[in-house]
Order: sequence, then structure tokens, then C-alpha cells
Amino acid sequence: MLDIRFAPASATTAETLVVFAPEGGAPLASAALPQAAADRLKTLLPAEEFKGKRGDTAVFAGLEGVTAKRVIVAGLGDVAKLDTLGWQEIGGKVYGRLAGLPTVEALLALPDAAAEAAANVAYGALLRSYRFDKYKTKDADKKPKLKTLHVGTTDTTGATERFRTAQTLANAVFLARTLQNEPANIIYPKSLAEAARDALTPHGVKVTILGEDAMRKLGMGSLLGVGQGSANESQLVVMEYHGADDQNAAPLGFVGKGVTFDTGGISIKSAGGMEDMKWDMGGSAVVIATMLNLASRKAKVNAVGVVGLVENMPSSTAQRPGDIVTSMSGQTIEVLNTDAEGRLVLADALWYCQKNISPAPRLIIDLATLTGAIVVALGDITAGLFSNTDDLARQLEHASRTTGEALWRMPMGPDYDKLIDSDWADVKNIGDAGRLNPGSITAAHFLERFIDGGLPWAHLDIAGVTWTKKDLPTVPKGCTGWGVRLLDAFVRENFEG
Ligand code: BES
Ligand code: MN
Ligand code: ZN
Repeated sequence: MLDIRFAPASATTAETLVVFAPEGGAPLASAALPQAAADRLKTLLPAEEFKGKRGDTAVFAGLEGVTAKRVIVAGLGDVAKLDTLGWQEIGGKVYGRLAGLPTVEALLALPDAAAEAAANVAYGALLRSYRFDKYKTKDADKKPKLKTLHVGTTDTTGATERFRTAQTLANAVFLARTLQNEPANIIYPKSLAEAARDALTPHGVKVTILGEDAMRKLGMGSLLGVGQGSANESQLVVMEYHGADDQNAAPLGFVGKGVTFDTGGISIKSAGGMEDMKWDMGGSAVVIATMLNLASRKAKVNAVGVVGLVENMPSSTAQRPGDIVTSMSGQTIEVLNTDAEGRLVLADALWYCQKNISPAPRLIIDLATLTGAIVVALGDITAGLFSNTDDLARQLEHASRTTGEALWRMPMGPDYDKLIDSDWADVKNIGDAGRLNPGSITAAHFLERFIDGGLPWAHLDIAGVTWTKKDLPTVPKGCTGWGVRLLDAFVRENFEG
């Protein structure tokens, strides 16, 4: 892991010095960058087409009057507009540039040396520094050399303290990303359940794992139907954390879709891109990581996480289109398409979370890579938000703005709900085929049928945002862990006094 240290910039030297320039302006001189060197840089920057836009960088070797081997000038953009997320973005982009250079150590000479800016720059860099390269046994020379990042600040204690909780959160984000990135021969229901137990028990989270026999006794025919075609046994993982002063206060409920691989089942997917379906357990990874974050930062809340883990495979034991299953709620479901499996898993996980946790949760948020239709609507930029409760939706939208994990609320209503009425059972798992089936909305309505008595509930369809095919400022290419930061802010802003 990247070693990040805070110190006054004047007291530190490093092989690579990073200095900062506002949009259209000269690099800001400091103890690390004498005025003469700053002036010299100013004359060199136009040739590099450097305009100082936020996070833009230009590299110079052997600058006179500076002991560092090379100097990177990084843009601050419009300084008046620099906020928390702006500093994080700068940290991430600067890290991205540094990682491509043959340097093991760098000093960021921040102009605004306040603790908050320094901690945010460090946090952005840390989030970007995540790598999933455990299976790359060759090409060691292609891995980033950067080991240590010194972040200049006049308030070392303040910055270190602020960074500590950010680091805890980043650790949780990394757990989510790794669980998502792991291929499906490594992460399958049992190994994912074990990974959750191993990560959480040391932090005092009670982890209960239910296998197929236990779930059968509970009547979870909906979840079990999805897993019945796989040689890998389905699992339900329940994670309970008590951090509130009142241990008996109703917890926050988090529920995740954990399809460790989604072939589509008998309604099989086409081959192209099917490998992406290893991250169809993205929602469950975010729930597990959220529990880790809350427990390791000792959040003063009670929370329960429930994840349904299954592998959706075609085989002679697989469920067929047209099968009718009975869910734990007692409602019967006509399975018209075995590829609409996430909602079948969530139906029983949601019901378990409402009925078998004591005291019952005060609200439930579920996360799921549920529909391709949400990717069509919102791309890989924004997740879909569905909720039966305006206040809860607003709280999530606020946390979304705090963290930069973008959400857009989608409509729900009775005219949509009736699209999943079945001729032969209580509900069908897809709307009628064709253009008039708003796939993400009918999926949300299917879930809502398993929310009892108007309990405040929100569903986040993260199919588009759980993976990125290109590097983003604070998220390297691959699985994103999208949602861990959002839920951290959601809990912090509303439930921790
Ligand atoms: N896991 C997929 C959704 C998905 C698709 C996520 C593409 C990310 C990228 C889900 O289980 C699924 O297959 N949904 C179907 C539903 C359809 C059969 C009604 C879909 O979206 O095509
Ligand atoms: Mn599917
Ligand atoms: Zn799926």
C-alpha cells in the first residue's frame, strides 16, 4: 500500500517535487520552490500547453535551483472553486502521473497547506493507487515504482488525524474492489461468504452464514431456484454490527445482490462480454465493505448487512423459464426469464432482513448490478436510485453530492407496478418483452413487492457504475467499489448525531 506521510514541505525533500499552479497563473513559490525557479517554470509552461486546469500536469527534469531530480507542475484550476472533491481529484490525477514515472518518492508542496486540503489530496491519491495485479507474475517493471508520498502541510497532526478515517474508508473501498475484481473461479458463494467472515469478525461484527439446507427450512424458494443449477452451494450471509449507545436500537439494513457469476442460466447470455458477469456480486461486495468501514471506524450506529450469494448456471438441475417458485414471503413468482435472477435473490434476502433480524431494521437500502437497462439510461457515470420514501431518497442524494458518487432518482408508480402482474402466479420476474418494458423500473417494482408495510426502502441499481473501463481521477480501471463512500457519507450525515 502507498505510504503517505504528512510534514511541512519546507522540512522535506524528495526525488520528485510536485508544485501547484492556478489556472492561467504561475506555479506558486514556496520553501520547496524558490521564486526564481517558479519564474523559470512559468516561461517553460506554455510550450507544454499547460494551462493549469484542475489535475493537469507537466514534468520538468533538472530544474535549476531545485534539489529534486524532477519537478511536476500540477494545475489547481479555478482556485475559488476548489472544494473537498476538487482536492481529491487533484490528488488522484497527480498520483496517476507519478505512477507512470520512475520515481519511488515524491513531495507534494501544496500551496494551501491547511490540514483539510492536505488530507483530501492524500485521500484522492490513495484511492487512485489501488491495483489488482496479484495475478500478474511477470512484467514487474511495468508496476508503479512510487512507494512514498510526502504531503506538505503546516498542520501535520490535523492532517494525519483527518486522513486516518479516510484511510479506513479507502481500505473498505479496496476490499470491495478486490472482491469484485476476483474471477468467479476464486470468488464463488462459499469463498465470498468466508471472505466476509474473515474480514469482519476481527472487528466485532457477528457473521452468520446460512447454507442451502437452512435456507430451504426458511422457505427461500426464490433465491434457491437461482442457485439450483450450480455445483456451488448458495449462501446467505448476515452481518450484524452494534455501535450505537443503545444496542437495541433498530439497525440500518443493507442488502446486496451477490451473483458470483451470471451466465443467464437457461435464458443464457451471449458469449461476448460474458466475463463481465464476474462482478455481478458487486452489490454484495459493497455491503460487506460497508460493514467493514462502519465497524473499523467504530461508527455509532447499529447496522445489519444481508447478502444473497448464488451462481447462475445452466445445467440439467437449473430452473427453467416458466417455473413457478415460492418465496420466503409466501408470494409465488413466475420465472419467465432465468437471466432476471438478481431480483429473485434479493426477494428472499430483503424478506429475511425484515423478518429475521431483531429488532427489525428501520430502513433498508439494497445495492445490485440489476439491469442492463440502467446502463442504457445512465451509462457508467450515474447509478439509478429508486425509493418509496422521499426523505430517504433526499438523504442519499445529499450523500451522493458529498462523495461524487452520482445518483439519479428514477420514477415508480402503480402503472409501472402492474407490468409485473402474472397470469399464473402473484408476480412475474420480467415485464413483457419489447420497447414498452422499462426494465430498470419493473425490476425495482419487483423488489418493492418484497418490502413489507411501507418500510422506508431504497434500491440502487449499480450495473453501470460498478466497473470502469478507463482510469478515473480516484478510481483506476476495473471494479470501482462504487457505493462504499456513498453509504459512509449517508450514515455519517444522518445517523451519527
Ligand atoms: N446482471 C445482469 C444485469 C447487467 C447487465 C449488469 C449488463 C451489468 C451489465 C442481470 O442479472 C440481467 O441479466 N438482467 C437482464 C434482465 C432481463 C432479462 C429482464 C438484463 O438487464 O438484460
Ligand atoms: Mn442476469
Ligand atoms: Zn445478474
